[in-house]
Amino acid sequence: MSELYVTLAVYRMKISVVGGGYVGLVTGICLVELGHDVTIIEIDPEKVLGINKGKPPIYETGLEELLKKNAGRRIRASSDYESVIDADIVFICVGTPPGPEGDADLSYINSASESIGVSLKHNTSYCVVIVKSTVPPGTTEKIVRPAVLRASLKTEKEIGFAMNPEFLREGRAVEDFLHPDRIVIGSCDPRSGDRVAEIFTNIRAPVLRTGLTAAEMIKYTSNAFLATKISFSNEIGNICKKLGIDVYEIMKGVGLDPRIGTLFLNAGAGFGGSCFPKDITALVSVAKSIGEDPILLQSVLEVNERQPRRMVTYLENRLGCLLDKRIAVLGLAFKDNTDDIRDSRAIPVIHELLEKGAHVAAYDPLAGSAMQKIFPSLEYASSAAEALKGAEGCLVMTEWPEFSRLDKEFDLMAQPVIIEGRRILSRKGVEGICW
Ligand code: UGA
Repeated sequence: MSELYVTLAVYRMKISVVGGGYVGLVTGICLVELGHDVTIIEIDPEKVLGINKGKPPIYETGLEELLKKNAGRRIRASSDYESVIDADIVFICVGTPPGPEGDADLSYINSASESIGVSLKHNTSYCVVIVKSTVPPGTTEKIVRPAVLRASLKTEKEIGFAMNPEFLREGRAVEDFLHPDRIVIGSCDPRSGDRVAEIFTNIRAPVLRTGLTAAEMIKYTSNAFLATKISFSNEIGNICKKLGIDVYEIMKGVGLDPRIGTLFLNAGAGFGGSCFPKDITALVSVAKSIGEDPILLQSVLEVNERQPRRMVTYLENRLGCLLDKRIAVLGLAFKDNTDDIRDSRAIPVIHELLEKGAHVAAYDPLAGSAMQKIFPSLEYASSAAEALKGAEGCLVMTEWPEFSRLDKEFDLMAQPVIIEGRRILSRKGVEGICW
């Protein structure tokens, strides 16, 4: 019997989810799986249309299947806030992109709070507003709560507030939502927290109840710690490479200590994605705004900035000047199993290759068209073999499993100079970034 479906009688809640992006959509569809009725509030009319037709606007394992099953029945999307009028719960899942100084831009949080408040004016029952977006400590307390209360003309007896961070990995988000390691519920009072806990009655996981600000800080700290593990491994990896030691063997030995753990110690070209770089930068910005000098976190980011450039340096060491040389870049997504290129480590590498006058032939199983928006004039190959044909060098940037099966394709290269930024190739003669 699956752990999740030891179904207790769930109070079937009416839930509005503001934001139909990756977090909002996964949250919405998983809440349906938990037995609730969901309306996604999304400003982009194309996304609304797609969701209502059962077509997710993003690629995420398992999402399409669940959406097809429930679209128009237990989940619907709308561009207005009408569903908030009789909602038991409203989740805020809007984006918090980086502002000009690296601090989190909270304009979507502000406008969502205001619109939720306006609709809650007409809601006659008790409703809890839950922030799921990753926000700087203090945001729910000092920005969301006053904005909602002001616009709704109500008090905290009628509206509760909570912060429930997400710990979803892209590509595995549905699985992570339904089988989490923990559920963190920050709330302004016990009544709000109890209502949030009810949503997750059918999930078996440790539940940690905290205040609003602590819940926000738990999310930032989790991502900062994971990113620190990666930059730490990369720095050790850079040292190991010079000493002729295999960093993967080292980290295996180190990670067996349960106080350290084996995960997130894979050295390579650094971390990308929509979360780690943005969240650690925002945490640095929070620290500075209160007079702290976060030297460790800044170093984590600096190692991550320098790391991908090493790929180009190693290539030059082997090939000399890169002017007019054909270089295959395999992998454009920030990790495997996604078409997301946000902060992908392939981006700084391609910039540098182009600056040095190389001819870049790029290939990714899913992310080619996304990368075309940043680099419209690259050669985008339709297979790894096509990118490799006649290439004098190859950089492997993403841990796609299909790359680990490449073999004869490398024989198509004019010169077999291959540098991997993720440890996936077993072929002899391949140089690793840290090994
Ligand atoms: C990350 C966290 O893992 C989630 O727990 C969190 O909820 C999410 O951010 C978020 O804040 O929403 P995600 O960005 O999907 O999830 O990606 P990860 O799987 O964590 O990988 C991030 C980057 O680190 C990738 O570029 C990956 O290649 C790199 N990485 C990961 C390494 O270089 N080494 C490792 O050992 C692990």
